[in-house]
Amino acid sequence: MATTSDYNLGKFTFPRGWFMIAEASELDAGPLPLRFFGKDFALFRGESGRVICMDAFCKHMGAHLAGGRSASIAAHGEQIDGDAIRCPYHGWRYNAEGQVDDIPGFDGPCPKAAKLDTYIVREVMGAIMMWHDPEGEPPHYEPPEIPEWTVRDYVNGAYDHLGVLEVHPQEILDNMADSNHLGPTHGSPPEYFENEFDEHVYIQRQGGFRREYNAFLSTYTWYTGPGLLLSRQAIGDIRGVEFIFHTPVDDGTTRVWHNNLFRVGTDNPGPEEVAAAKHMQSEVLAAFAQDFEIWSNKQPAFTIMGVPTERNFTLGRAWYRQFYNPRSEEAQIRKIATGKHVPSHKKPPYEIARELEPATR
Ligand code: FES
Ligand SMILES: [Fe+2]
Repeated sequence: MATTSDYNLGKFTFPRGWFMIAEASELDAGPLPLRFFGKDFALFRGESGRVICMDAFCKHMGAHLAGGRSASIAAHGEQIDGDAIRCPYHGWRYNAEGQVDDIPGFDGPCPKAAKLDTYIVREVMGAIMMWHDPEGEPPHYEPPEIPEWTVRDYVNGAYDHLGVLEVHPQEILDNMADSNHLGPTHGSPPEYFENEFDEHVYIQRQGGFRREYNAFLSTYTWYTGPGLLLSRQAIGDIRGVEFIFHTPVDDGTTRVWHNNLFRVGTDNPGPEEVAAAKHMQSEVLAAFAQDFEIWSNKQPAFTIMGVPTERNFTLGRAWYRQFYNPRSEEAQIRKIATGKHVPSHKKPPYEIARELEPATR
């Protein structure tokens, strides 16, 4: 399996940033066991509605806090106690800060060392996002939240859960710079193509005639940090926003989610509009599946045998390295890619790409 060190990305195995770790609705069924960044976590919603994430394994005897759904206290809805969670094995209670504050059958005081690390999470656009930082620092930007998620004439999709891919996320990031796969893989060779790198944001503007749609497709796509891709797309009057969120599980494997918002042109979408949005989501997913199949079957590209018109790959990889190195080196690493870059054989962007740009990022 290809690992972070094979790609020579930097000092850390897993990158710094915001990452999707669950669909918010999954918490309705109770505490959720998760594995990301080579570690195990328990994620749950407290009675106040707050979402809490902590290390998975109980300090008492190592039970997984979210790994005992058949346990009596879980089955009887007694595991969540305020904004705290009780271990399903002997019922030790971990508060929202990860500290044990109640041990059944023992009057206390509870051992101070009975404490698990907790993690910063946000609930955004139907997803639970976690801030992952190898240096344990707080976030210096927020996860993206686009207005279309709450605008009524955009129909919200449920996430497509695409599972765990045996591919390092570097290979997925390469897609952003890859103007020359758009023809062979997706049937829409770009008439214009541009990348822009701005701090933790990586942008792609492109457009071309897509033979599957028999129409001109324009997209404005951007990563906010290393794991959250959004893409505004226009085909004639059709407007949509595609989501591709991906998170490292272990070194060299990646969990992937997909979603799509579709503008239905009415503030009162009925079953017909919802069906149209679902249909569009599956069409957009089919295009993503073209990439997915290639990734699932390819060899890792530790280096790329690029031709001179493919310089953007190198820039994209340089940008990605900022997340695998200490924050003190971030600004220096970013400088390599900062700015706009057009592969020499592609025309500069059309106006339509500008229309799709967010007012703020
Ligand atoms: S293992 Fe968790 S309370 Fe005993
Ligand atoms: Fe692609």
